Amino acid sequence: MKFPENFAWGAATSGPQSEGRFNKRHRNVFDYWYDTDPQAFYAGVGPDTASNFYNDYQKDLPLMREAGIKNLRTSIQWSRLIDDFETATVDPDGAKFYSDMIDCMIANGITPYINLCHFDMPYELQKKYGGWESKHVTDLFAKFADKAYELYGDRVKHWFTFNEPKVILDGGYLYMFHYPLKVDGPLSVQVAYNIDLASAKAIQKFRARFKGDDHTIGIILNLTPAYARSESEGDQKAAEFANLWCVDLWLDAAIKGVFPEKLTKILAKDGVLWEATDEELALIKENTIDLLGVNYYQPMRVQEPAISPESLQDWMPDIYFDNYEMPGRVMNVDKGWEIYPKAIYDIAINIRDNYGNVPWFVSENGMGVSREERFMDKNGVVQDDYRINFIRNHLKWLHQGIEEGSNCKGYFLWTAIDCWSWMNAYRNRYGLIRDDIHTQKKTLKKSAYWYRKLSDSNELDAD
Ligand code: BG6
Repeated sequence: MKFPENFAWGAATSGPQSEGRFNKRHRNVFDYWYDTDPQAFYAGVGPDTASNFYNDYQKDLPLMREAGIKNLRTSIQWSRLIDDFETATVDPDGAKFYSDMIDCMIANGITPYINLCHFDMPYELQKKYGGWESKHVTDLFAKFADKAYELYGDRVKHWFTFNEPKVILDGGYLYMFHYPLKVDGPLSVQVAYNIDLASAKAIQKFRARFKGDDHTIGIILNLTPAYARSESEGDQKAAEFANLWCVDLWLDAAIKGVFPEKLTKILAKDGVLWEATDEELALIKENTIDLLGVNYYQPMRVQEPAISPESLQDWMPDIYFDNYEMPGRVMNVDKGWEIYPKAIYDIAINIRDNYGNVPWFVSENGMGVSREERFMDKNGVVQDDYRINFIRNHLKWLHQGIEEGSNCKGYFLWTAIDCWSWMNAYRNRYGLIRDDIHTQKKTLKKSAYWYRKLSDSNELDAD
């Protein structure tokens, strides 16, 4: 299976998950949370060292290139680059680190894709203003973004405002797996809107700076269609709402610059619709993306809720649907996620048919496995055939979507080097490259050799 010419083969990571906290003068919310409650993190491991990328990038990047990674997405940490958040003056060490690291990527034949927010709100802004609860913070984010464009826009062509904004709501405002650990459905609605507003403001700055040249800006969304348990009316209604809230809300705002009317009507009827001004809505309408990143790991399956939404006191988005565990599903049991490669095809067709076939790429997809030492051969190489199969099965469906006309420009695996992952710390390993977190020794896994062949040939082997 041949992929289109210039198809971008790459991998993704993020600043907080790879760099380590070396020389950081400000904390993001995860740094703060770890400092105050280390036991909340798997095996008590926090972001202090991560995969030591801050110190090791000159060795890590050539190793990534050996693994076939020709494009790398990472993120700039707001809390590392910026010194004064109100005025967006820079921290000299942070600015130099990102500059040198970007130069090193390019010197190694790796194209940088730079994202500006990967869950890492500076703690001071969370404390003082409530982070994304505040519209003032959306202005501060735009200032930070503009500073990053100014510093690195000469070398970085592909920019992204957010990674998985929905997870900021899920983790921080609904299900308590990210700081600030609140459970507040109505507030999560306002946060969703504020994030879309922040993204549009950062895009506005981008357009003012890069007029009509080859720079692109986008957003990275975690998407999966909501599959209904059955054709029954109750299950179909549940899937309809889940799609509106989890998928259309984000895609419509990013690509069409508007919010789905069916959703806003329900939110208004429930008395939880966000506060918005006409001026803000016009700004969102005018500042849509060029390139969409899609993170896909597992499908969402839903069913009619067991309890009628009318009987609940507190508004939460999931009063309208319950999760459905499909009997006989294929699972990654380590991570607890269903494996369903066909969803990537459904996503491709949805973008083609309902979103103007906007250029997009798979910005994350991958398989997290625990205790990978189990699979090491006598030379210490992890024989991760499960990862190769996982990637292959997803690529087959992606290829099908491309054959049918979907405008997909690339595939980025999560991740290059095993990295730290929020509350899960180092529980699930996703890398093509193993990181021994005790010694920081990095070794290519079997999948790295396979991925190199794939990226060099631009062709997927049959089995
Ligand atoms: C994605 C995030 O949703 O999932 C990454 O963008 C994260 O930041 C990845 O690391 C895997 O999550 P986990 O918890 O299984 O390691």
